[in-house]
Amino acid sequence: MSPFLEARQVRKLFPGRSGRICAVDGVSLALQPGEVLALVGESGCGKSTLALMLAGLERATAGQVCFEGEEIAGFDRARLKALRRRIQVIFQDPYESLNPTMSVGQLVAEPLLVHGLAPDRASRAAQVARALEAVGLSGDFADRRPHQLSGGQRQRVAIAIALVLEPVLLVADEPVSMLDASIRAGILNLLADLRRERGIGVLFITHDLAAAACLADRVAVMYLGRIVEQGPAQAVLSGPRHPYTRALLEALPVTDPRQRRLRALLGGETPSPAQIPEGCRFHSRCPLAMARCAHCDPSPVTAGLQHQAACLLLEEGAGK
Ligand SMILES: Nc1ncnc2c1ncn2[C@@H]1O[C@H](COP(=O)(O)OP(=O)(O)OP(=O)(O)O)[C@@H](O)[C@H]1O
Ligand code: SF4
Ligand SMILES: [Mg+2]
Repeated sequence: MSPFLEARQVRKLFPGRSGRICAVDGVSLALQPGEVLALVGESGCGKSTLALMLAGLERATAGQVCFEGEEIAGFDRARLKALRRRIQVIFQDPYESLNPTMSVGQLVAEPLLVHGLAPDRASRAAQVARALEAVGLSGDFADRRPHQLSGGQRQRVAIAIALVLEPVLLVADEPVSMLDASIRAGILNLLADLRRERGIGVLFITHDLAAAACLADRVAVMYLGRIVEQGPAQAVLSGPRHPYTRALLEALPVTDPRQRRLRALLGGETPSPAQIPEGCRFHSRCPLAMARCAHCDPSPVTAGLQHQAACLLLEEGAGK
């Protein structure tokens, strides 16, 4: 199957106080229809920036993003609007993303109005009810306001707002990281059901490798603007080939890699994306670094079936 969404050597530079910030630095990634791809990495590694470029909400500085084989940079307004209907983004914070002055029914109906999809009140109400039902909320939630909902219910409403447009892909940017552990599983199960029952693909952005393991078909691990390893979830999580992926896994069950355990394993902080180190960008923290890692930038090499990692140890065929 050809990818329906693809990044080819995509870069994103932002102006910063101490020089240009290279948030995404030459990423190639493809999504197949209906698959769940988990994008994993520490805070600031470029996950959200990459996701926004894939969703057509942020323009790439270089490289290409292609939807169904066509570069989206060339899309006119009508095609961009259609793309934004088919790819829906769910953000991390269900408290911020819902307008508190609107009822749940109005919030879920709004995208239909914006896209001119439900001409009359009755068909709008029916579509809103269907979207709420799909996320496990009964129809009487339509009259409630966001402040009357729990965090998990708010995130379900955010997903209903995305679903009402019948997308082919949900970009879920840390959709459970603000929620209590007890309600995280419910939202993850909902995403899994939507994929199974409706064939909706999910780009699932997370710090949490354990959550990635529950949901994903494939995993891509990002470090300082690059994908350092990607492949089938089972292969990456049970046979990681890149030292960074191994460290993330060793840091479990502390699931947030910002926490101390990963720092202890890797020694220190990620370098600034305004000053990306020469050579392998992971060398200042890599427990296996060799002298030449400071000046050779590794390219992704095959590490198994549809499994790639960018490490000089693999290029040499060592470190297995
Ligand atoms: N609009 C912007 N202007 C300037 N710098 C930006 C902008 N957006 C992101 N950045 C910078 O780009 C880098 C990558 O940010 P991004 O938000 O993509 O990371 P992330 O992996 O999503 O992090 P987190 O896990 O904390 O959400 C960071 O250094 C960030 O400060
Ligand atoms: S190339 Fe060197 S520094 Fe980079 S991950 Fe491999 S061993 Fe570590
Ligand atoms: Mg982010």
